[in-house]
Amino acid sequence: MASLAAVTRPTPAFFFYANNSSRVLHSSTSQVAGILFPCSRKLSWKRASISSISHRREARTTVASAAIERRDSSYSPPWFSVAPMMDWTDNHYRTLARLISRRAWLYTEMIVADAINHQQENLDRMLEYPEFQHPIVLQLGGSSPEKLSKAAQLAKTYGYDEINLNCGCPSDKVAGHGCFGASLMLDPQLVGRALAAIAEGCPGIPVTVKCRIGVDHFDTYEFLYNFVATVASMSPTEHFIIHSRKAILKGLSPAANRTIPPLKYEFVYALINDFPHLKFTLNGGIDNIHQVCEGLKKGAHGVMLGRAAYNSPWAILGNVDNVVYGEARQGLTRRQVLEQYVEYADANLHKHGFKKPSIRHLVKPLLHLFHAEAGAGQWRRAVDESLRHSEDVRSLMKETLSILPDFVLDSPPPLEFSMEPVFCDLPPLPRLSSTQEHESDKIVEDKGLLCNHL
Ligand SMILES: Cc1cc2nc3c(=O)[nH]c(=O)nc-3n(C[C@H](O)[C@H](O)[C@H](O)COP(=O)(O)O)c2cc1C
Repeated sequence: MASLAAVTRPTPAFFFYANNSSRVLHSSTSQVAGILFPCSRKLSWKRASISSISHRREARTTVASAAIERRDSSYSPPWFSVAPMMDWTDNHYRTLARLISRRAWLYTEMIVADAINHQQENLDRMLEYPEFQHPIVLQLGGSSPEKLSKAAQLAKTYGYDEINLNCGCPSDKVAGHGCFGASLMLDPQLVGRALAAIAEGCPGIPVTVKCRIGVDHFDTYEFLYNFVATVASMSPTEHFIIHSRKAILKGLSPAANRTIPPLKYEFVYALINDFPHLKFTLNGGIDNIHQVCEGLKKGAHGVMLGRAAYNSPWAILGNVDNVVYGEARQGLTRRQVLEQYVEYADANLHKHGFKKPSIRHLVKPLLHLFHAEAGAGQWRRAVDESLRHSEDVRSLMKETLSILPDFVLDSPPPLEFSMEPVFCDLPPLPRLSSTQEHESDKIVEDKGLLCNHL
């Protein structure tokens, strides 16, 4: 088994570079004249007009079997990704995130398969996004292989880079629809069939799973191991994103389900040891870039951040390209980011009808851009006031931005990390009992999972 572990993958930048690298930047110094943003520079990396929307409806390459294609590929998950978050990682937040980091992978909020299948007249509103948001992953919710496959095929024309199935949502509202979200972990065969069906309808697009480490009292390592082994053996899924806590389906709110069940990162590292042919992204409770680097160094194939990336976008996303991916620091400032964002926002205001989206929707992701900075609270209050009468985002910014000091608007992201280690004192990695190990190996071998990687 050990020889199968020899998976080569490039090395994240932080193995080579000191975090306080002072290497210089490439960004264009061409000036953009502007009364509102007098110091702003045009960002040289903008790949497409930010108001242009993706309609990559070209047919993707077809292959006889999605499963075969995935197994033959050298699939590699992103080192850094921003988690799917309902009501948070909408188009507008993702646009802001992409303006700050070129390299972070971005996940949509979960979109329920039924919503896509039953509201085909609203597909653009649910699924389109500016071209420059790539790489972007669509997260689907649902449990019926047929419905998920149909939804994925409808979404295919929008050119998502990957399709992810939600097996981690503990919400009663979602779980109440039958087997859905985290409760899907109780039926790994159904998950395997669902992912196989999605992949079959979308050849060439990787399918992935986001799950918990367990559900209710099904919280042993064996349970998680069997889930992964079964899903991977029945579908071309090679990448599992693991929120490292179990879900408690009854009695805890979704928010409490993200804090109360204890984090068990050792389960994820045990999976990394036990499935050398699969890839695992670590998620849950990570709140700075230093910890991202630490998690990768310890062997995670990727690290996903949710709340921290939303609540502190500048400190987190502003350091991803440099510290994780080793790119030269761009010297990007928030004034530049806002200049670009305002262009996007006003081009999209009321695009799908009255107040769809509204100024309030478009301004929402900006409210965390100055997290913990001088003047941030006063600015947010002024924004709130201005939302009552402003007709577009540019005029709102014009009215409020002078509240923030220039040094806040014009300085690059801070390079300060908490050095508090989170992965150095993990308990011993859980091991399978010998009977379980034998049985699980047999499942995996019977399904031909390992053979495909020899
Ligand atoms: C407001 C909110 C909405 C969320 N919605 C989703 C979702 O739609 N799909 C999903 O898989 N996880 C969802 N999550 C869970 C996150 O993706 C992530 O797994 C969780 O927040 C733990 O990561 P963190 O500690 O870095 O925030 C949500 C989390 C939050 C805070």
